[in-house]
Amino acid sequence: MSTTTQTPDAGGHFGPYGGRYVPETLMAPLEELERAFHEAQQDEGFRAELKDLLANFAGRPTPLYEAKRLSQTLGGARIFIKREDLLHTGAHKINNCLGQILLARRMGKQRIIAETGAGQHGVATATVCALFGLECVVYMGEEDMRRQRLNVFRMRMLGARVVSVTSGSRTLKDAVSEAMRDWVTNVSSTHYLLGSALGSHPYPMMVREFHRCTGDEARAQFLERIGRLPDTIFACVGGGSNAIGVFTAFIGDAGVKLVGVEAGGRSGQLGEHAARFSGGSPGVLQGAYSYLLQNEDGQVSLTHSVSAGLDYALVGPEHAWLHDQGRAEYVSATDTAALAAAKTLARTEGIIPALESAHAVAEALRRAPGAKDEVYLINLSGRGDKDTDIYRENFPELDKDDAE
Ligand SMILES: Cc1ncc(COP(=O)(O)O)c(C=O)c1O
Repeated sequence: MSTTTQTPDAGGHFGPYGGRYVPETLMAPLEELERAFHEAQQDEGFRAELKDLLANFAGRPTPLYEAKRLSQTLGGARIFIKREDLLHTGAHKINNCLGQILLARRMGKQRIIAETGAGQHGVATATVCALFGLECVVYMGEEDMRRQRLNVFRMRMLGARVVSVTSGSRTLKDAVSEAMRDWVTNVSSTHYLLGSALGSHPYPMMVREFHRCTGDEARAQFLERIGRLPDTIFACVGGGSNAIGVFTAFIGDAGVKLVGVEAGGRSGQLGEHAARFSGGSPGVLQGAYSYLLQNEDGQVSLTHSVSAGLDYALVGPEHAWLHDQGRAEYVSATDTAALAAAKTLARTEGIIPALESAHAVAEALRRAPGAKDEVYLINLSGRGDKDTDIYRENFPELDKDDAE
């Protein structure tokens, strides 16, 4: 396990980023949450229960799979895939949800609220609420409900109430605003189960800790399987939870390159993408200071990505700090590149990725031919079932009867 995990200061800052930019009413619940989290981490019973749920409910450890046909096709790097897509509910989000639901129960909270973009966090939240018999309300932008219809139904089947958010761009940012409004109003009974390494302290650090199992496992799996660490790790970055989950174990390994892939969307013009590092500048959104897509007047910009889970104006604060220190590199992949990468992975390896994860695949595909003798790791954060409608829209040639 890496010993160089970045610890935020007492105010929750990674360098200048992070912090607690919230109304006064939320300061006490954030402090309560931080206390509960630190106490739980020291509690062997808590750790054992979480470990058991991760193994026997969620399906950890996930396999480290060598993508031999993909590697051969590209003729360069040797590519491995961390199969977070095989987790229960279909994405990495369940790691964090299991941790936070145990904390909520410890704090005596009866009601859980969450926001969701791609619906994977909503499904994972609805799942753990069903498991523990707690009330669940999920806020979701109207536009995201349209493009991730299947996940809306899954949440309802699991007993959650899905509230459609019709303000702003009707995507993730607007869903977070509604969830925060709800939390301010119902703070004594309610835990806000935030779904990425975002928001006010302690969420970014806490969410990272609940996801670090991905990188810890991958590191041990590499050492056991091939006796060395990968040269480069690729992960998509929405808020940044799957990326920080896989990066953390390797931060102290200077020889391992960490590459975060944001949504390049339709073009490099503001409003057409969600590439915070290339198109944004530091600012505050929804409780944290980090790289933000904003216009010259500081107004939060609209964003676009074909993948709902990457379509957010702020990046998690720890990524901002890794970026400024030069420890991780952040690039973007366009909608078109992600769609093409999804098809390539499906056809060479029999794995249909989530559109979010396909962004990480796209960057690995772009670099692999020129990286002979290198070992790559792609963190495949989720599976593509939820994106079938979008794949159908974008690959109309596959959606017709085959000629005899
Ligand atoms: C499969 C999948 N991967 C990645 C993400 C992006 O989130 P994060 O950057 O927090 O991992 C999402 C968000 O919904 C997702 O569903």
